[in-house]
Amino acid sequence: MSIYAPASDRYDSMEYRRVGNSGLKLPAISLGLWQNFGDDRPLATQRDILRAAYDRGITHFDLANNYGPEPGAAEDNFGRIFARDFRPFRDEMIISSKAGWVMNDSPYGFGGSRKYLVSSLDASLKRMGLDYVDIFYHHRPDPDTPLEETLYALRDIVASGKALYVGISSYGPELTAEAVEFMEDEGCPLLIHQPSYSILNRWIERPGEDGESLLDVTARSGLGVIGFGPLAQGMLTDRYIDGIPADSRAAKNKTLEKDWLNEENLSMIRSLNDIAGKRGQSLAQMAISWVLRDQGDRTLTSALLGASSVEQLEHNLGALDHLDFSADELAAIDDAAHDAGINRWAGATASRVRGN
Ligand SMILES: NC(=O)c1ccc[n+]([C@@H]2O[C@H](COP(=O)([O-])OP(=O)(O)OC[C@H]3O[C@@H](n4cnc5c(N)ncnc54)[C@H](OP(=O)(O)O)[C@@H]3O)[C@@H](O)[C@H]2O)c1
Repeated sequence: MSIYAPASDRYDSMEYRRVGNSGLKLPAISLGLWQNFGDDRPLATQRDILRAAYDRGITHFDLANNYGPEPGAAEDNFGRIFARDFRPFRDEMIISSKAGWVMNDSPYGFGGSRKYLVSSLDASLKRMGLDYVDIFYHHRPDPDTPLEETLYALRDIVASGKALYVGISSYGPELTAEAVEFMEDEGCPLLIHQPSYSILNRWIERPGEDGESLLDVTARSGLGVIGFGPLAQGMLTDRYIDGIPADSRAAKNKTLEKDWLNEENLSMIRSLNDIAGKRGQSLAQMAISWVLRDQGDRTLTSALLGASSVEQLEHNLGALDHLDFSADELAAIDDAAHDAGINRWAGATASRVRGN
């Protein structure tokens, strides 16, 4: 195996955006290891994707305790590749992990208790061979744990030095507003929110019970937003326009349900594909550009995507060449598409709307 020397021009073509009111910047495109980095994929392919990403200025890699298969495998595999290739560049990378979804069947392998969050982060650090993560998230709201317990645990994790910043994922607008206020009072502001967001899944734009959308809350609170799943797990690409390829996510596992590729959704996808073509982009590129479009103080910090090959990743980076949209293009996208019923994280968001 060759020794890795990253591209010397790696920071030239990437845009870096400030995360809310913080001093930290993230690349406009970040890479997630939810899928494609488990023990079902060759380590060599994983290494190629990570190297290609870093060579193109992707400094942010997003993991979680349970990413696999099996749970923990993505952190293990990342740790192996990190040890060989990336350790000299640790100070130039932003690595995140999370806990909250199911890690194991024990009473301490799900939720938002101090016990789960602290022990899980320790295990994540061991698997990845790191002293600290840059961002640690509570991965989803937990209806059974007092919000204060979760937030005190996040605060203490920062104080311990095991995470530099903390964030929340899939919290709705009301719970986010409460969490932001609590952490400000504690002198440990939340850095960032990680919600799902794509042309086919626009829940973060809709007002909640208090009249504010999640984007309203994050904007007024100075929280960064990293939107995950800009490609709707691959639906917003040309992958499914002519059927379900055998090597695709829809063919292989249950997170992209085949029912979602129904005629109504496919017809939206074809219309969006036409709009992308008129912009001189592929559908994948337009879907990423759209997530990153200028929304004033609601503009997202980063689009957090996945890729099963270097080719996909490099193609997707082409989105950065055309981030601006005319009013007519945005109106055409609004006309062509509506929510496709693909937000598999909606139940977690709804499970706890308020902290008390
Ligand atoms: N906080 C949370 O609860 C949460 C939940 C989910 C995800 N995330 C984060 O978000 C990251 C991204 O999620 P995601 O992988 O679902 O995002 P995504 O970017 O919407 O989907 C990625 C998938 O789309 C397909 N694809 C990518 N580029 C393509 C291209 N150019 N042409 C055709 N197909 C293409 C590939 O699927 P194929 O396998 O079919 O090639 C790829 O694995 C995760 O890794 C994780 O870090 C967070």
